[in-house]
Amino acid sequence: KTPLLIDTDPGVDDALAILMAHRHAEVTALTVAAGNVGLDHTVRNARTLVELIGANTPVHPGCPSPLVRQPEEDAAFVHGMDGFGDVGFAEPAHAAETEHAALALVRLTRERPGELTLVALGPLTNLALAVRLDPTLPARIKRLVIMGGAVTGHGNTGKLPAEFNIGFDPEAAHVVFEAFPMFDLVDWEATVRHAFADEVYERWVASGDRRAAFFEKIFGTARRFNAKHERTGFIAADALAMAVALEPGIVVREETRHVAVELDGRLTRGATVVDWQRRLGGRPNARIVLEVDQDRFGELIAGALGVS
Ligand code: BDR
Ligand code: CA
Repeated sequence: KTPLLIDTDPGVDDALAILMAHRHAEVTALTVAAGNVGLDHTVRNARTLVELIGANTPVHPGCPSPLVRQPEEDAAFVHGMDGFGDVGFAEPAHAAETEHAALALVRLTRERPGELTLVALGPLTNLALAVRLDPTLPARIKRLVIMGGAVTGHGNTGKLPAEFNIGFDPEAAHVVFEAFPMFDLVDWEATVRHAFADEVYERWVASGDRRAAFFEKIFGTARRFNAKHERTGFIAADALAMAVALEPGIVVREETRHVAVELDGRLTRGATVVDWQRRLGGRPNARIVLEVDQDRFGELIAGALGVS
């Protein structure tokens, strides 16, 4: 089983990705960032999820805010005020670790050099801090898969070309994009292209186990948001990144390019700028995932929801 280290800000689609990871891989730890909602909620949601799964995965709280600037928005309007659809779950018994997420990233990659696939599903604050603490970290991981960016400018935040994870902490994304020799980038646009028909989602929920029932509960607020904004189909950004992390062979089309993060821009702060035409001579740092095997992606989700 692939050993994974997951940095996350749960979040509804983070939850699905984490369910997939526990079903199909070995999860070393969850390091938790602020993003979709505040850190107190994202940590609690991670603990709730680990408890539901019946695992013993360590949950490490990380940075409560971005490296430099306070973000203009979070994503509570999509994921619910508590990040999990405001269902009102009881306080989970699974306790958080005392070790900070960034320190855990440094330690765990030292303990298993060359073995871990790192999957980043939220703003990159913890990971940026970890590579500043230990610049040799990128050399110790097997792979890095990032959910983030909008590679032709079709973002999902107030700054039109920016995607949420990168737009929330552009400086952190800049640090990470510069520090890692190569990473797989699963952007928002790929996510939209890989939506499932609503009927497919309904079928999963109807024939899944308690994990499916749990997911259906936390998805309510996001589902209403999507309907109101004419987002059709079942879109799960972090689940797509997780599928790529679990099965590199699922990718059927990708392009390798230099990708940088806009840190200033009046309208474009947080945009991912791709040198599509290879004109600037920058080091190619990202394998941009354009297309995956949709049927296999669906199987990985169905397996995680206990669909029979
Ligand atoms: C990303 O932003 C978050 O709201 C989701 O969890 C996902 O990681 C999509 O832009
Ligand atoms: Ca996320």
